[in-house]
Amino acid sequence: MKKYNIAIVGATGMVGQKFLQVLEERQLPAENYILFASARSAGKKVTFMNREYTVEELNESCFDGRDIHIALFSAGGEVSRKYAPIAAARGIVVIDNSSAWRMNPDVPLIVPEVNPQDIEKHKGIISNPNCSTIQAVVALKPLYDRYGIKRIVYSTYQAVSGAGMRGYSDLERGIQGQAPEKFPYPIFGNCLPHIDDFLENGYTKEEVKMIDETKKILGDPTLRITATTVRVPVFHGHSESINVELKEDFDLAELKRVLAEAPGIALVDDPAGNRYPMPIEAQDKDEVFVGRIRRDESVDSGVNLWVVADNIRKGAATNTVQIAELLISNWENDK
Ligand code: A2P
Repeated sequence: MKKYNIAIVGATGMVGQKFLQVLEERQLPAENYILFASARSAGKKVTFMNREYTVEELNESCFDGRDIHIALFSAGGEVSRKYAPIAAARGIVVIDNSSAWRMNPDVPLIVPEVNPQDIEKHKGIISNPNCSTIQAVVALKPLYDRYGIKRIVYSTYQAVSGAGMRGYSDLERGIQGQAPEKFPYPIFGNCLPHIDDFLENGYTKEEVKMIDETKKILGDPTLRITATTVRVPVFHGHSESINVELKEDFDLAELKRVLAEAPGIALVDDPAGNRYPMPIEAQDKDEVFVGRIRRDESVDSGVNLWVVADNIRKGAATNTVQIAELLISNWENDK
């Protein structure tokens, strides 16, 4: 098998650091890794795969003459908007973790368990969905295929790590009685129904991302979806209440089997034993945990799910690395 050169843009960040951990665990067929961050981190030493790497400054010429095959980006939307096209123009396939390119019709938005076939359509940039969307669609895809879906109501309980290092440190600061620096209000002892900016219609951008990205990934613009996204004082792991109205009626035991057998899902659903998914148990895992599965008696074919995943792993780094694995495996099969 050919060996590939892989760049990481934003290697010093919350997700960038997790990229390194996940890459080390999964052992991709890589020849070399190149780590980029801002000028602030240039020259910093990072030990990775028993080798010392020096972080390089991201700039307009940093990809020139480097024979890089894949670049994993997680340095925010602005960096992706500017540098992903520069990398793509050098023949590098960018897998971007920001929201910058997700809704572009030329950019596939991929969750490998859900829509791996869409990757073929890429033109140099592939997007990794929003963390809250990834775990939701892993749980919804088997139900969509088996019963059809009419309507979805998302309510999320999202960890501070989703807001990067500064979000994480705001919860630590709050615990010590210090004022927040990233969030507009204290997050310790609080809940903020405010993730990303507010839009004219009263929704936040995070809510609109969940709605639009779900439709794109499931390939169904007719889905009716609404969302309320909330930041909660949890360090790791997003939780979601998902209310789903199915097109066909269902047998609850069979629906649970459909979920249990689907790729990427771990069922934790034993109310009698007080067992249900929780962020503390999802931390450092790659599965999407699904539980509290029960009929919504207020509609004809409704079901409620409680869905939890590690937002920095399956919600970001793991999914991005899985996309890279899918890309490499397609390249190898095309040979
Ligand atoms: P740096 O550490 O040098 O600031 P997080 O979301 O956890 O805050 O991480 C953001 C990541 O994006 C970091 O690796 C950060 O690097 C990187 N980054 C931020 N702005 C830039 C930029 N203008 N150019 C390159 N990397 C950037």
